[in-house]
Amino acid sequence: MKIKIITNPDRKITQSILYFQFRFMNWTPRELRYQDDRYGTVPFGYVISYKDNEIVGVLNLHTRKIKTKTQDIVLGGLGGMCTHSKFRRQGIATQLLKRGMKVLEDNKCDIAFLCTDLKTLAPLYARVGFVPLNRKYKATGATGKIYTDEEGMIAPVNSKTIFRQVLENTEPFDLQGQDW
Ligand SMILES: CC(C)(COP(=O)(O)OP(=O)(O)OC[C@H]1O[C@@H](n2cnc3c(N)ncnc32)[C@H](O)[C@@H]1OP(=O)(O)O)[C@@H](O)C(=O)NCCC(=O)NCCS
Repeated sequence: MKIKIITNPDRKITQSILYFQFRFMNWTPRELRYQDDRYGTVPFGYVISYKDNEIVGVLNLHTRKIKTKTQDIVLGGLGGMCTHSKFRRQGIATQLLKRGMKVLEDNKCDIAFLCTDLKTLAPLYARVGFVPLNRKYKATGATGKIYTDEEGMIAPVNSKTIFRQVLENTEPFDLQGQDW
């Protein structure tokens, strides 16, 4: 198994990743329209796992500068986590997450955010430091529609202080843009 980090991906790479995610995420056309509005943030890079030159796992990497009432935060993000259905429960997602967190660290992110189905997948993301946000977060779709959700998780990257402050805050956490 080989892992590659690709930043500033070209069109060909982006299309192969989207095709892989489309194939193994089981999205319906209706979900895709919703996904596009809510989760349309363009990743700055990908972590990709290959077996015999075929993609077997992918992870999208994000970063965004946000401002709260008290501070500026470099927010990192992980999304689009997907493993080929024939290669699940072999540690591929865990490896991609570890590499992805290192890329966010190198990109000077203070903390990282992701959203998931907490009931089933919180233990997977806990392996690389994510804990449930335990309050609402807010995202703004491309159409301007506001989405609120309670399935957010955050992890410290370069700042444990900001991580603690965000966790202690009680107001909805605002992604200040689209979700990922
Ligand atoms: C979720 C997903 C990415 C996990 O990939 P994976 O390569 O199988 O994950 P790993 O082998 O690294 O799993 C590590 C641990 O995460 C947890 N985990 C992984 N998949 C799980 C699942 N479907 N249900 C419950 N726990 C799961 C387990 O604790 C697992 O450890 P174990 O195998 O020792 O029990 C994969 O099932 C997938 O692509 N699903 C469809 C897309 C999706 O739901 N993505 C998540 C978007 S937030």
